[in-house]
Amino acid sequence: MRPEFPKTRLRRLRYNATLREMLAEVRLSRHELIAPLFVREGAGVRHEIATMPGQFQFSADTAMETVRRWASKGIPAVLLFGIPQAKDAVGSEAWNDDAAVQRLCRQIKAELPKVLVITDVCLCEYTEHGHCGTLTDGPDGCGDVDNDLTLESLAKTAVSHARSGADIVAPSAMMDGQVATIRRALDAAGFTRTAILSYAVKFASSMYGPFRDAAESAPKFGDRRTYQMDYRRASQAFAEASADLAEGADMLMVKPGATYLDIIAAVKRRFDAPLAAYHVSGEYSSIKAAARLGWLDERAAAIEITSSLRRAGADLVITYFAEQLADWLKE
Ligand code: PBG
Ligand code: ZN
Repeated sequence: MRPEFPKTRLRRLRYNATLREMLAEVRLSRHELIAPLFVREGAGVRHEIATMPGQFQFSADTAMETVRRWASKGIPAVLLFGIPQAKDAVGSEAWNDDAAVQRLCRQIKAELPKVLVITDVCLCEYTEHGHCGTLTDGPDGCGDVDNDLTLESLAKTAVSHARSGADIVAPSAMMDGQVATIRRALDAAGFTRTAILSYAVKFASSMYGPFRDAAESAPKFGDRRTYQMDYRRASQAFAEASADLAEGADMLMVKPGATYLDIIAAVKRRFDAPLAAYHVSGEYSSIKAAARLGWLDERAAAIEITSSLRRAGADLVITYFAEQLADWLKE
């Protein structure tokens, strides 16, 4: 009939829904999901973040209710961010053993020991200027983050989190040497089993905007381009990842995730370490906003993007959609 037509008809693998399901190479499950959570001082707080519908600032008590519900839905891990009562020049509340993150760590590990507790280790939520470390005077009078001064603060913060029961610390300040400094400090304090998930490949991104509302961590001046990576320079991804592995990182992260699938794929091919992708606030809120306008199907979009992160090579996905995904995947 059509002698000219090639033997190959690729659609033959797509006609049958059962076969499509059998041939899927990426299958989402709740086991790879990490849910971010914002905790502040006080009690009874459940403040929805205006730019991140469905995400909240909690106090430790209301956070516990949420973590309990997530655990009951089979979400294995949480990533904690803290918002302090008072900020100062160096961000000293970050390493206060009685601050919200530390108290929540202790409560989760006491009541829900199986929940894996990961803590973000950074200072931007804790400094009055909103930068990720201690400033030194710059030529413009505004200053810039001093790398080596900041390392000491990050190490104290990581040890305080470990002492409070964190299973994994996740340094995100993008200071050179932060993984080595934290590893040394953890080991010296006896926390040889506390793992490090390094925000190794973290780009300076407009996609963090909503997060900075959530964590109240927007820089008061300037931006983060002297420490976070330039998105036009992919080649530094390998240097960042290999430096962190050499310094003792147990796992790597690429961030943002959805707009950086090329980076995820490249890092995964090059390194054996488990790789996490962070589907960041701006990526989340874009979907939420479009869905609210009726411009796209939220559920289909969230499942597709999470699948794409996994397809690109992410072993773990940090996502604000974690609870919804757990619900959808059950159906
Ligand atoms: C702290 C930190 C940020 C995010 C994770 N850890 C903000 C930033 O670097 O400005 C962003 C996460 C998100 O956008 O969801 N440094
Ligand atoms: Zn920071």
